[in-house]
Amino acid sequence: MKNQVKINNIIKPFNKKINVSSDKSLSIRCVLLSSIAIGVSKIYNLLDSEDVRNAVRSINKLGIKSKRKKNCLEIYGVGINGFKIKKNTIINAGNSGTLARCLLGLCSSINQNIKIVGDRSLSKRDFSRVTKPLNLFGVKTKSKNRSLPIEIKGSKLLRPIDYYEDKGSAQVKTCIILSAINTSGTTKIKAKKSRNHTELLLKYLKYPIKIKKNNNYDFIEVQGLNQYKSFDYTVPGDISSASFFIVLTLLSKNSELVINNININDSRIGIIKILTQMNAKLRIINKRNYKGEYIGDIKIKSTTKLRSINCSKLLNSSAIDEFILIFLVAAKAKGVSTFWDLDELNKKESPRLDIATKFLKMIGIKVIRKKNNLKIYGNPNLELKGNYHIKNFLKDHRIFMMSVIAALTLKGNWRINDKDSINTSFPNFLKIIQKLGGKYN
Ligand code: S3P
Repeated sequence: MKNQVKINNIIKPFNKKINVSSDKSLSIRCVLLSSIAIGVSKIYNLLDSEDVRNAVRSINKLGIKSKRKKNCLEIYGVGINGFKIKKNTIINAGNSGTLARCLLGLCSSINQNIKIVGDRSLSKRDFSRVTKPLNLFGVKTKSKNRSLPIEIKGSKLLRPIDYYEDKGSAQVKTCIILSAINTSGTTKIKAKKSRNHTELLLKYLKYPIKIKKNNNYDFIEVQGLNQYKSFDYTVPGDISSASFFIVLTLLSKNSELVINNININDSRIGIIKILTQMNAKLRIINKRNYKGEYIGDIKIKSTTKLRSINCSKLLNSSAIDEFILIFLVAAKAKGVSTFWDLDELNKKESPRLDIATKFLKMIGIKVIRKKNNLKIYGNPNLELKGNYHIKNFLKDHRIFMMSVIAALTLKGNWRINDKDSINTSFPNFLKIIQKLGGKYN
């Protein structure tokens, strides 16, 4: 099969330095925020993937000019309320929940009908989490079954809102912040912890946004209609992409890896905290500040002495995209690991909690799932012998890549469908696997 990867051998020991692809969250935010800046922004090292290309096409549909230069993307920002759109504009967000949800906030003051559509996976996801706050601002939205396609009609007379974001979703928080920028007055958000790239970028741009924090929540105040200038930004590497190679190294024999130039924002490094508690040999070196974000290099060594974890749910949001990999580590760790309240995991590109539970059972690991809590009975001697075929996962790129890591570390004969799913987020994933000596057909 053309779009399938076959793996029949585990990876041999390696000792290398790699770079992974640029951070997707930051790439999408840079594109969207530069569209309403005044002047030409230059984004270097922008992730070249389908989700980010769709972000650029989306702002193009809003009348924003962009030019690909040799080493950056220039975006010609038109300022707040500067978008010019054609009648009955349709914007395709493809596979990206981040793009679709943030875009709705960005478009909140456009007083014309816009339709947002997406692919099969995105069209199954719940958008009421963003239409609810947007409606409170005064934005009109129309959709069937709370999902895409959605029609939105914004207004120039939005009212600021006072909102409790209770899902710990950075997509929802960013949607609200972008709509708040389009709204006269002060919008207040009490947000359960989630990644804070939007807030840090706006702070760097000197936008009037105030943030107070406690252990569970961020309290954010955004003053609307303050114009900011264009900016230059070099996007660092993505911890979510690095994580596949962190786990590959951990579960391989006698290997070492350095992953350069990774965004290590505290709201993203749950996997590093969790794996360190599980006795992984992991270090962040060369930590530096870049325009309000932290960047570092990650050093990993393989180990056979992994231990189980009772994972605090306070770490859920900062590891949300990495849990399917963490489960794989728990499968090889000594003891029983427990994970709590992972309902958000079932709301991603595919129902990842359901799929991961099936996956672990398929490879012979005892798991007990009660509601959205998972107990994984680790087996440090796990070595597979059978044939494994991974299919029907809604082309979820992270399920594909996690399966490749499992195949390269746990033995067995694997066929993994939908190779092209990686194009949304991490197109050079398989090239890096090859560089490290991983064999596939
Ligand atoms: C993202 C936020 C997370 C994450 C997604 C990217 C972002 O989703 O899973 O991959 O860039 O804001 P939620 O905010 O819905 O948890």
